[in-house]
Amino acid sequence: MNWVCRRGDVAGTLALPGDKSVSHRSVMLGAIAEGITEVTGFLPGEDCLATVAAMRRLGATIDCPASDRLVIHGTGVDGLQESGDEIYLGNSGTGMRLLAGLLAGMPFDSVLTGDRSLSSRPMGRIAEPLEQMGAAITTTAGHAPLRISGRRLHGIDYTLQIPSAQVKSAILLAALQADGVTTLHETATTRDHTERMLRWFGAELTQRDKTLQLAGRQSLTGRSLEVPGDFSAAAFFIVAALIAGAEPLRLTGVGVNPTRIGLLELLAMMGADINVSEVVSRCGEPVADIEVRRSDLRGIDVPPELVSLAIDEFPVFFIAAAFASGTTTLTGAAELRLKESDRIAVMADGLKRLGVTATPATDGISITGGTIGGGSIESRGDHRIAMAFAVASLAACEEIRINETDNVATSFPSFVDVANSVGFSITCDDSYGRTTSNCN
Ligand code: S3P
Repeated sequence: MNWVCRRGDVAGTLALPGDKSVSHRSVMLGAIAEGITEVTGFLPGEDCLATVAAMRRLGATIDCPASDRLVIHGTGVDGLQESGDEIYLGNSGTGMRLLAGLLAGMPFDSVLTGDRSLSSRPMGRIAEPLEQMGAAITTTAGHAPLRISGRRLHGIDYTLQIPSAQVKSAILLAALQADGVTTLHETATTRDHTERMLRWFGAELTQRDKTLQLAGRQSLTGRSLEVPGDFSAAAFFIVAALIAGAEPLRLTGVGVNPTRIGLLELLAMMGADINVSEVVSRCGEPVADIEVRRSDLRGIDVPPELVSLAIDEFPVFFIAAAFASGTTTLTGAAELRLKESDRIAVMADGLKRLGVTATPATDGISITGGTIGGGSIESRGDHRIAMAFAVASLAACEEIRINETDNVATSFPSFVDVANSVGFSITCDDSYGRTTSNCN
């Protein structure tokens, strides 16, 4: 699928689909909890559905009474069973890395596979700490497929050198089944949904500054869980309203976990008019409404401490930078090269095609804002890159064509309909160039 995107003015009120990170975790933790977990606001994207399929294969009964509702009959930590076949996680790094942690301590073997993008992403980063805990994991030259021979695990004291919530969460899920206590030291703050959800399900987890401690062999208790709207999905509409807002755009029920909203701080530094209100706590996660008004943005140097708090939002942040006056510089973000695509290279290529001055570096990029032209963009199958350039099209001088957009279904299957409902102008064609009404 390819998109043809034209200029538009944005306004209205939107509720976003459920948070992807929280949805994955709800399925995994619900499956190993005791009793029933009812999940509402679940994100029915391909990544999270791959996690549902995986947990079913491992013996959990998961009913799906509506596309965004799950009823999970938990097996208890010791109740999962061997799947008997490879477990395919599609495009999902979160699915594969967290599941590897969960399966490392089970009394059976598992093989985890993924698509071409996922099979090129580094897995040594989880294999190494899990092996220190006693796990037996064979990677394919540091990549998937992962062959996991379940072993009895023991707690470790480990410093996370890479700022990664996926690595942290893999270790925490392994630690839950291990003998003894696991102590984790983070060098940078990363999203803490696993910690919050473990507590929601009754686990005891202590935290002092950037050090976490979890005692093993704890059981979890299933309970209802409401998934907040995905801040990473909201990010596209926040930038859309800043560059092309006709009237204020209101986003309701968005997760505003402080470990996720670095983008709001970056945009505030650029002069953005964004108001966050009605913050309430829902199932251990803060949720709020966000109102955004069109703003004149100016370029900034991104503070390094905000990089891990905005890690998934950089593709659309680069679009904001391309419309800002002056230059925006990002450093300390080499992790962006290891996402669903090399997001520094692919964004720099796309921006240059639209006539923007974008200079990639090993660990970042510098972008000088100005007028954006039209052209044809390769998203390289990366969902967030496709959606970021759709945002750019709202205020570009000419039409933007975005190729390989199918993977938008991994995180935001309803994106085209939702975007068009607030003023985007996206049409879709298939690989033969035939216009199709079925964009999602
Ligand atoms: C995620 C963590 C982040 C993020 C990914 C989702 C998670 O990855 O990029 O989209 O749900 O834990 P890293 O933790 O590897 O940075």
